[in-house]
Amino acid sequence: MAVLISGAGSNMAALIDAAQPSDAPFEVVLVLSNKPDAGGLAVAQARGVATAVVDHRPLGKDRAAHERAVQTVLEAHGVEVVALAGYMRLLTPWLVGRWQGRMVNIHPSLLPKYPGLDTHARALAAGDAEAGCSVHLVAEGVDDGPLLGQSRVPVLPDDTPASLAQRVLTAEHELYPRVLADFCRAGRGRTQ
Ligand code: GRF
Repeated sequence: MAVLISGAGSNMAALIDAAQPSDAPFEVVLVLSNKPDAGGLAVAQARGVATAVVDHRPLGKDRAAHERAVQTVLEAHGVEVVALAGYMRLLTPWLVGRWQGRMVNIHPSLLPKYPGLDTHARALAAGDAEAGCSVHLVAEGVDDGPLLGQSRVPVLPDDTPASLAQRVLTAEHELYPRVLADFCRAGRGRTQ
């Protein structure tokens, strides 16, 4: 599995840790970031996992060129499954098509509620009693695709977007490894 990140990579770290036991159903062979300064790169290196940076900025608006470069790195590492974990790039149909059924994402809301950004502020503004996170197969729309699992957390009276985000993130760290373990144990995502 490759984990794609743009930032702190706490979900990525949870996935690497879950892959440590010898009988774990997946192995993290690569952590790839589109940002050279993503904090998660050092986190992955400290855990002995190979890292790669495919910086999108020198390519300007050429999304296709960036994705071709990403694809080349994924293929070079023999990747079978791609886990997006705070990867802040919109994907084109080309890359999504390449990984159809083998690319998953985690999103900090109870999809189909609140795709996109600022999910916690939107949940609070709506007066929701609960929030949560979702893992889904990646399809062409933003945060769209068949759901693989969700976790729910309560919204508390004094919550701010930051406090709610922290509670949801803790749930993400449990949900993502569990869903991916089930996914891989079931043989989904396996290349022929
Ligand atoms: C998580 O909340 C994830 O659901 C969202 O971005 C955040 C990434 O956090 N897509 P981290 O980089 O895994 O710490």
